[in-house]
Amino acid sequence: MYIIIPMVELSQKIQIAKIVAKDQIYKVQEKWQTSKSGKNSLTKDPAYNAANPNHFIPMMDEDRYSDRSDAFDKIISATHKHFWDPNDKKYIDFDIPFDIENENIVDPEGPFGIELQIPSIREKLSKHQLIKLNNESFRFVLSQILHGEQAALSLSASLCHVLRDPGAQEYAANQTREEARHVAGFTKYIQARWGSPYKVGPTLGRVANEIVSSDLVYKKIIGMQMMIEGLAMGAFAMAYENTNDPVLKTLLKYTMSDEAFHHKFGKIWADRTVPKLTKKEHIKVEDWAEKIFVELLFNLVNPFEKKHVYSCVGLDHKWVDQEFHKYIDQGEVIKDEMKNQNNIFRVLVKTLLKAHIITDRTRATYAEFVNMDELNNESDTVAGQEIADQGVSALSEINKLKKTA
Ligand SMILES: [Fe+2]
Ligand SMILES: [Fe+2]
Repeated sequence: MYIIIPMVELSQKIQIAKIVAKDQIYKVQEKWQTSKSGKNSLTKDPAYNAANPNHFIPMMDEDRYSDRSDAFDKIISATHKHFWDPNDKKYIDFDIPFDIENENIVDPEGPFGIELQIPSIREKLSKHQLIKLNNESFRFVLSQILHGEQAALSLSASLCHVLRDPGAQEYAANQTREEARHVAGFTKYIQARWGSPYKVGPTLGRVANEIVSSDLVYKKIIGMQMMIEGLAMGAFAMAYENTNDPVLKTLLKYTMSDEAFHHKFGKIWADRTVPKLTKKEHIKVEDWAEKIFVELLFNLVNPFEKKHVYSCVGLDHKWVDQEFHKYIDQGEVIKDEMKNQNNIFRVLVKTLLKAHIITDRTRATYAEFVNMDELNNESDTVAGQEIADQGVSALSEINKLKKTA
């Protein structure tokens, strides 16, 4: 006994000494991380201050909690109004069937059926094969949307991880939750109609990877909130107009009810940041936006990305590529497409223009495809806002009924 007790005491003393030593190291780390934390590159408004993603200590700074911007409070509070659940049939029933073998999910004469408008492709295929090609093409589009939703989910989670402002952080947490239900909703729809999604295309995959894994808040917000979110709103509005499937219409309407708010977050960032940028900083922002635009634009009509879509009706993608070039000048197709009010890229250019991100330096890149003066004179209502508003009203009603039930 005499020998054991001092031994225990000694081991306890060692334990305590070790903890005290670790706490001292923590205090040094705290000082160092706090000194490194705060401004992210190009941050002009404290609401977008961000911590280093590997430094959690500054997040527990006791003064941080009450230092909250109210810029996002309205968007955060509105979330309950447009709540929906892809697992609840009161909102959406994925079991409602659709005759995918005999019916076109989207209008084959619309923007999603571009291959079907090429005479040599039409001639090679039977009526059944044409429907198959149209529906598989749209499966590819929806698969890319699903991957885009996953990118939005991971990106908003990464913003939530680094934003120091508790209001901005709550907004990002909220968006993360909403993007998660979009991933669930599109997964369920693709499963119900085709079983599984297509692989992500290399352009979208590369761009999404670059945006999500960047530590720079401005790259994340321009890339995702302003560009991919804007692009998604345009794509959803176009699909909503062109689809014959009521289940997809409902899914798109509810998703758009959420997306319209995400787009607003990007707009708030631009309003508070762009006017305060130095010339050098503005060039960085403008160049980043132009780079993402060019990459995404040429992904619009690219037969190589749809190799597996064509092979399911026995077409070789290289032959399809040749036919594309024979009948359609890519630039002309894009220009024609851009005339549509809800065209995904037109919406995107308008967002950048209204946010004063595009100047004479890069104007020519966009002006090649869209009339910039015409765009400048239009209101800055985002494409699909009407559909999103209808979604919010429908959801408010369902949510009210659920509360009283
Ligand atoms: Fe989304
Ligand atoms: Fe979103």
